[in-house]
Amino acid sequence: MSAQNAPEGADALRPEAIEASTSAALAAIAAAGTMAELKDARLAHAGDRSALALANRAIGSIPPTERKEAGRLLGAARARVQQALAERTEQVEAAELARTLLAETVDVTLPVELQPEGAIHPIRGLIDLMSDVFVAMGWEVAEGPELEAEWLNFDALNIGADHPSRGETDTLFVEPVSNHLVMRTHTSPVQARALLTRDLPVYVICPGKTYRADEYDATHLPVFHQVEGLAVDKGLSLAHLRGTLDHFAQAMFGAGIRTRMRPHYFPFTEPSAEVDLQCFVCRGESVGNPDRPCRTCKSEGWIEWGGCGVVNPRVLRACGVDPEVYSGFAFGMGIERTLQSRNNLSDMRDLVEGDVRFSRTLKGVAR
Ligand code: FA5
Ligand code: MG
Repeated sequence: MSAQNAPEGADALRPEAIEASTSAALAAIAAAGTMAELKDARLAHAGDRSALALANRAIGSIPPTERKEAGRLLGAARARVQQALAERTEQVEAAELARTLLAETVDVTLPVELQPEGAIHPIRGLIDLMSDVFVAMGWEVAEGPELEAEWLNFDALNIGADHPSRGETDTLFVEPVSNHLVMRTHTSPVQARALLTRDLPVYVICPGKTYRADEYDATHLPVFHQVEGLAVDKGLSLAHLRGTLDHFAQAMFGAGIRTRMRPHYFPFTEPSAEVDLQCFVCRGESVGNPDRPCRTCKSEGWIEWGGCGVVNPRVLRACGVDPEVYSGFAFGMGIERTLQSRNNLSDMRDLVEGDVRFSRTLKGVAR
């Protein structure tokens, strides 16, 4: 029952009228199933314009002797309505909460699809680390193309037309062969590029990809990385090369690393040497010890790290540098080999299989 058609004035205070208003209020409250419906019921039956509120205002219009009884009845009625409202509010709130919980149920045991975390490839990480070591000494990082002019890959480096490494069994020539383009077989053409394009003195390293028709085994890949180093200045000698490589080796492998230089031949350096690292698996203990053969170093105790030497004056001349005034040294190390020794990786092929679980185990190692 709404206030509009409720009895007014003294009529509203008759016990039957109070009882009727109360019953209407209780029925509306009981019927409210949501908080919004309950709010409507509260406004209609307990608000300022409700029948019981209007009856309350009419108390002054009835004879004083009847006021006490009417007031008592009305007070009790309003208290019942308030009580019913409070109880119903609690019920509706609980029901709404239960509905929400049901609707928003989360099964915490379901597997979660996490965004997989990537990992920098360890070769990339090691290249950054090597670059940092040389940049800290004032060197620059140079780049050169992987598809290289045959002249820069070979001739500028004093590698003659009849040199065996020029053969198709070692070098990947790109058709048509008449264009004289090769996939660079080493990073050494960047030596020639640096000398042809930079002012002297030159101190550069060039980390990059190289290609050879080579084996795919535990210590060889057909596509691998080298880091080339070239210093050309006045008065540089083999001693500067040795000191630079010692520093480089210690930065890569820690203090106390054992390296050795073996006389070797490269057409572009004179004298030349190969640099070996003590075997990371047997630490040299397999040498002369048939009971403990080492597959990694073939029981030689050493693993080749790279080549180096004093820049051949013929290379300087081919690049327009006067060998009477300038001298220099160069080196070229295998980056996969460096990582293998540094992190005890027995099989180089793991580096190119593309399994992120492998990269993840080396995360941060080479950074
Ligand atoms: C050279 O490539 C010379 N350009 C190095 C050099 C530079 C000498 C400057 C003098 C002055 P070599 O072919 O030995 O040299 O290769 C150098 C290093 O590359 C090797 O010691 C090895 O660490 C790495 N390497 C060579 N072939 C492979 C391969 N197939 N897979 C992985 N690493 C390789
Ligand atoms: Mg070699």
